[in-house]
Amino acid sequence: MAQGAMVKAVMAGLVLAGAAAGGAWAQPAADGGALFQARCKMCHEPAVPRAPSREQLKGYSNTQIIDALTTGTMRPMAEGLGRAEIGAIATFLTGRANTAREGALDLPPAVAAAPDIRPDAAALARLGRAKPVTAATLKAPAAGDWLHWGRTYDGLNYSPLTQIDRRTVKALAPAWRAPLQAGPSMPTPLVHDGLMFLQTSPDTVLALDATSGQVLWRRAHKPAGASSQKMGLAIRDGRLYVPTSDLHVLALDARTGEMIWDHQIALSPPAASRGSFNLRSAPLIVGDKLIQGVTASGAPGGAFIVGLDIATGREAWRFHTIARPDAPGGTAGTACRWSAAAAARCGSRAPTIPS
Ligand code: HEC
Repeated sequence: MAQGAMVKAVMAGLVLAGAAAGGAWAQPAADGGALFQARCKMCHEPAVPRAPSREQLKGYSNTQIIDALTTGTMRPMAEGLGRAEIGAIATFLTGRANTAREGALDLPPAVAAAPDIRPDAAALARLGRAKPVTAATLKAPAAGDWLHWGRTYDGLNYSPLTQIDRRTVKALAPAWRAPLQAGPSMPTPLVHDGLMFLQTSPDTVLALDATSGQVLWRRAHKPAGASSQKMGLAIRDGRLYVPTSDLHVLALDARTGEMIWDHQIALSPPAASRGSFNLRSAPLIVGDKLIQGVTASGAPGGAFIVGLDIATGREAWRFHTIARPDAPGGTAGTACRWSAAAAARCGSRAPTIPS
């Protein structure tokens, strides 16, 4: 296909990524100030690097704060809190009551995925014509392809295509639209040989004809909980590798969307709740392993990275980004220093590692 059509197709896919779901919250029946003291103050007053200060949070809308705590980056910090408590924190921070709209509506716990679409004969033929993505292709993708989150292993997010430049960018126009469900989502689509593979909300993978936007197949995983923000998927040898909101990694047949394996990532003790962890980054395939980062925000034990065998999904290795007490650099006291939230649970005796 022509380079221009491919670039337009990629742009259309990016523009269509879903918007974050809104929230709706009852008027506070809980003590927002006390909750802020216990759960938020340690990072927001005074503010740790990158975090908005207490003063800045005052300028947020109640909906922004509620969204951050329910579907956004602060979701792990609100683990175990109910709607009334989250509403009370928003009211405490902004000094404004939650609006009637926020109070009247009810946020569904998890958005139901649209029904799966199986590929018809024409779609199977189209998908079957794609050249295989091998280890060698992943190292040197064709100019019109986008095979990794950052396009190439060096993660430069740089396209060698030249048709769009400073002079021509103003002439970009939509080539097609494809319907996506609303929800937390920040994917980079993969593009290969005129096909696009996109992960969107809720935990849904789409195979599209990148030249027309036609959906060739759609498959949803039903997570145990709400759909989280994820950055994308990986491809190799006719398979797509898909991280989910509930810490599974799936291998799907890229031609049919059928499941090949489903691996649930185990928690690292002392973590007890899967809700504190997310598979935000796109998986990276290196040799016969899939490398997946597991983010942790304020969760005991901190984050970790797993290496899975791409043939079976079996976990081959795990690396904790904060040393375990029995690992080099770890001490008996590190349990309390894994995060500010962990330190809060230990009391004031341990200094924390700045996040
Ligand atoms: C362990 C430290 C930590 C704790 C505890 C914490 N936050 Fe945060 N918060 C941060 C950091 C760091 C950021 C900036 C995040 C980023 O840039 O990705 C942030 C960002 C935010 C934002 C802005 C989010 C956005 O999408 O713009 C809000 C709102 C917020 N926090 C509210 C809270 C509330 C309310 C609590 C308590 C329930 C809380 N935070 C607990 C560290 C923390």
